[in-house]
Amino acid sequence: MNVVITGASRGLGKAMSEKFAANGNDLFITSKNEMRLYKILEELQTKFPNITMRAKAFDLAKKDEAIAFANWVLHFGVSPDILINNAGTFLPGSVYNEEAGVLEKMIETNLYGAYHVTRTLLPQMMKQKSGHVFNVCSIASLKAYANGGAYSISKFALAGFSKNLREEMKPYGIKVTAVFPGAAYTDSWAETGIDPKRFMEANDIADMVFAASRLSPQACVEDIILRPQLGDL
Ligand SMILES: NC(=O)c1ccc[n+]([C@@H]2O[C@H](COP(=O)([O-])OP(=O)(O)OC[C@H]3O[C@@H](n4cnc5c(N)ncnc54)[C@H](OP(=O)(O)O)[C@@H]3O)[C@@H](O)[C@H]2O)c1
Repeated sequence: MNVVITGASRGLGKAMSEKFAANGNDLFITSKNEMRLYKILEELQTKFPNITMRAKAFDLAKKDEAIAFANWVLHFGVSPDILINNAGTFLPGSVYNEEAGVLEKMIETNLYGAYHVTRTLLPQMMKQKSGHVFNVCSIASLKAYANGGAYSISKFALAGFSKNLREEMKPYGIKVTAVFPGAAYTDSWAETGIDPKRFMEANDIADMVFAASRLSPQACVEDIILRPQLGDL
């Protein structure tokens, strides 16, 4: 299968790329930073030499680049089977005191990027009458918390996008899954100094997404909610 993953250079995106490659799937991956992306590509290609992997950097917060990424995937003449909208950015803050422009930045990266990539790939998936879109939302899409601010707003919006898409795609045989992870240990958390054992592992999320992608065409996992064993941070 052809698996398209955004934000694949680190964290959850990297773990999901590795999981799908390890199970024989071809990869089309992107992230913003070219150096980081190519380093991961090289690492994965060495580990899984029989898998076709393509990588190109795009800033998905920019509408034209998000569309260009999806068109770059399509230009290989492949049918995308799985799309994982994972790229995202996190800045803590509160509505009343976060810097001006943070909401725009969060929405552009966490919502518009996924929206434009999906819209550009969908016609091909609808034609083939199969496919699976995963949107990596967050616990912050479900539950308000102090210091959630613009990030939480953008993730609520992504969950709304996911719910709408799920309804729209039913007649086309395309599944839509919203993934709601709690705290998983990635670069986003490394600077906090909190014990990594308090977090889930990136592989936990990758394992659940992979499992949800393996069901019969008749079954759709609509939501995946995962939290650290000790609960939210
Ligand atoms: N880790 C958690 O605890 C947690 C919990 C809930 C939800 N999430 C969500 O899970 C997703 C992945 O999180 P993570 O912790 O793995 O994050 P991360 O380690 O910070 O990695 C973020 C990834 O997104 C890419 N990215 C960011 N902005 C981009 C842009 N404008 N264009 C293209 N790519 C961009 C980054 O690319 P570069 O490396 O090139 O910058 C990187 O590959 C995010 O959507 C996040 O909100 C994470």
